[in-house]
Amino acid sequence: MTLKAIICPSILNSDLANLAAECRNLLESGADHLHLDVMDGHFVPNLTIGHSVIECLRKQLGPEPFFDVHLMVSNPEEWLEPMKKAGASQFTFHWEAVNPNGGDSAVHSLLDKIKEAGLKAGLSIKPKTSLDVLLKFVDKLDNVLIMTVEPGFGGQKFMSDQMSKVSRLRELCPKLNIQVDGGITIDNIQECADAGANAIVSGTGIIKENDKAAIIRRMRNCVDAALEKWQ
Ligand code: DX5
Ligand code: ZN
Repeated sequence: MTLKAIICPSILNSDLANLAAECRNLLESGADHLHLDVMDGHFVPNLTIGHSVIECLRKQLGPEPFFDVHLMVSNPEEWLEPMKKAGASQFTFHWEAVNPNGGDSAVHSLLDKIKEAGLKAGLSIKPKTSLDVLLKFVDKLDNVLIMTVEPGFGGQKFMSDQMSKVSRLRELCPKLNIQVDGGITIDNIQECADAGANAIVSGTGIIKENDKAAIIRRMRNCVDAALEKWQ
């Protein structure tokens, strides 16, 4: 299968009181996936939306849109069933939220449960976490999310030092979906693309733009062009 750009706007900094309309606008502008940031005020110092909001969004938007749910929560396993019922398409959790207590077996077990539930499985690491911790799980992963900011808030500064993780992972796994998230805009997407990322999360970098379709198209073109060198 040929790897393609997947542009995933994050709704974190959108008008959350008009979330369905914001999501429709992003989809009509060419978004591939909707990136839905779930935070619990414990794993990260912020609160956002939970499964009830995602369930309402699914009802509003119908079965088609891909809901890329990024769980920045402690005990993510508690939310797998509710997220499945709510209509999540992909369940990406943080290695740091599971491994320190449960070790590798807890990570493996949650990844197996996600697959059994029929969802795509994603694993994420924060900027200070080494890439090495997740290499043993790549065979089970549909998505690896390399954070390019400390998780918790939109609108932070992109950490280019994380690109070495992306390029190393791309060398090791030419077919894997490698997602980057945090501070990504049209001005720094080339760095992500050159490192080998194909799934791009961008919140404020898309939401603040009037012509969202143009930005999404430019992001896609940039990533697809860079991907050619890995095929
Ligand atoms: C950060 C989140 C994000 C992020 C995206 O914790 O995971 O998805 O806020 O927003 P920007 O692109 O504004 O950093
Ligand atoms: Zn995110």
